[in-house]
Amino acid sequence: MIHIDIPDGLNKTQRYRLISARLAGIAASEKDALANLCNFMAYLYWTMGDVNWAGVYILREGELVLGPFGGKPACSRIALDKGVCGACARTRTAQLVPDVHLFPGHIACDDASNSELVLPLFVSGELWGVLDIDSPSVNRFDAEDLAGMEKIARQVEELAAQL
Ligand code: SME
Repeated sequence: MIHIDIPDGLNKTQRYRLISARLAGIAASEKDALANLCNFMAYLYWTMGDVNWAGVYILREGELVLGPFGGKPACSRIALDKGVCGACARTRTAQLVPDVHLFPGHIACDDASNSELVLPLFVSGELWGVLDIDSPSVNRFDAEDLAGMEKIARQVEELAAQL
């Protein structure tokens, strides 16, 4: 059983360090990369706090296609010229969006989403997909979240390389 308890009173850096260690534990206890990727996303969804969606979109034939996630059913495909995910994939840079309603072309998969953090994922130097985290709170993500998630993105890439 994978525990999703997070002790009270951790600051963001400590919380990300713990989440990252727990993800490493998940990856160490199972050899199947797809199973681990599914549990990574479920784990992020349940432990980050104040998020309503966490998942990956995988670049396939020039479009982003939905991969493992935690949260409500989402758009299956995103064109690279659409949405925050498309902007991340196109520019290959992380997108920290404090208020998605102010982001031109934002795709509302879930009406509850108000802010979003999307990071590019690379395998062998090529864009593999994006890691997308949504929150119901405006301004949920800051530079500490970005730094914490950058490390987690590298762990996701290790799994992606095995798929
Ligand atoms: N909001 C995203 C679409 C994906 S969902 O949030 C899961 C976007 O604008 O790209």
